[in-house]
Amino acid sequence: MKNLIRIEDLSKEEILQIYNRAYEFEKNTRKANHIDAQVVTMFFENSTRTKLSFELALNRIKANKYDFQVSTSSINKGEELFDTINNLSAIGFDTIILRHKEDSLIEELVNKKYYNDISFINAGSGMSAHPTQALLDFYTMKKQFGSIEGKTITIVGDVVHSRVFKSNIELLKKFNVNIQILAPEIFIDESIEGIQYFSNLKAAFEKTDIIMALRIQKERISEKIDFEDYIKNYQITKENLPYGAFLMHPGPVNRGIEIESSVLELQSARTILNQAKNGVFVRMAILDMILSNRGL
Ligand code: CP
Repeated sequence: MKNLIRIEDLSKEEILQIYNRAYEFEKNTRKANHIDAQVVTMFFENSTRTKLSFELALNRIKANKYDFQVSTSSINKGEELFDTINNLSAIGFDTIILRHKEDSLIEELVNKKYYNDISFINAGSGMSAHPTQALLDFYTMKKQFGSIEGKTITIVGDVVHSRVFKSNIELLKKFNVNIQILAPEIFIDESIEGIQYFSNLKAAFEKTDIIMALRIQKERISEKIDFEDYIKNYQITKENLPYGAFLMHPGPVNRGIEIESSVLELQSARTILNQAKNGVFVRMAILDMILSNRGL
């Protein structure tokens, strides 16, 4: 693995390899030392979980980490991103962790020629891909269920604007998971095949092993959202959460919108924090595989 851009680029076997390596890191049976690696985080969109768990993962595998500050960089003098990264390559940085609002910018960048060879990890691209989130979601589900093959997952909410959804769908399809979507019409994209669509929460939750709520991506939506209607019909509450259901959310949660605030205090909602925790092990595994492959 030289880069991680999209889930589509990974085979089922490679996903399981990432799982196994992450599990070894979690159980402390694997150590890594990448003292020669020079890794830059470049976040053009806000982040808490992804950025800081990448930073912690880099510390734990003893790689050198540098944070590119967009607001004080020469991007603000008009430098193109390719030229910036080419200069970083010349200076001696070897790996870029990039989050950007443009859907396909990372693919364009990865296909260019640099002063020195450089690796890219996608930390979120527009509305189209967030592969490390899907991999940590897979890790969280597989740890719980052993195997996710044949399980039913209900994904609730804003699937149209969600890069988490797009990467998860690609991964879940590889593992033959039954996928249900529960969402109002404005958040539905019915072009995706092999999915059962619901507009009624009770019907969707009747037979489901996993419930994955998605954040309403307010910053990407221009039309007016009827929050009252959403809360009334789609919010996950203490009352409608099926007993024993495995509740997930990639974060950040819009408290009181996707999930009733009191549900977040329940023991069963600890899975959401476990997703954040597991992100560190999964990112350690991804970095370890990419940096080892480069001999760093
Ligand atoms: N889930 C996720 O990507 O969270 P952040 O935006 O905080 O990184």
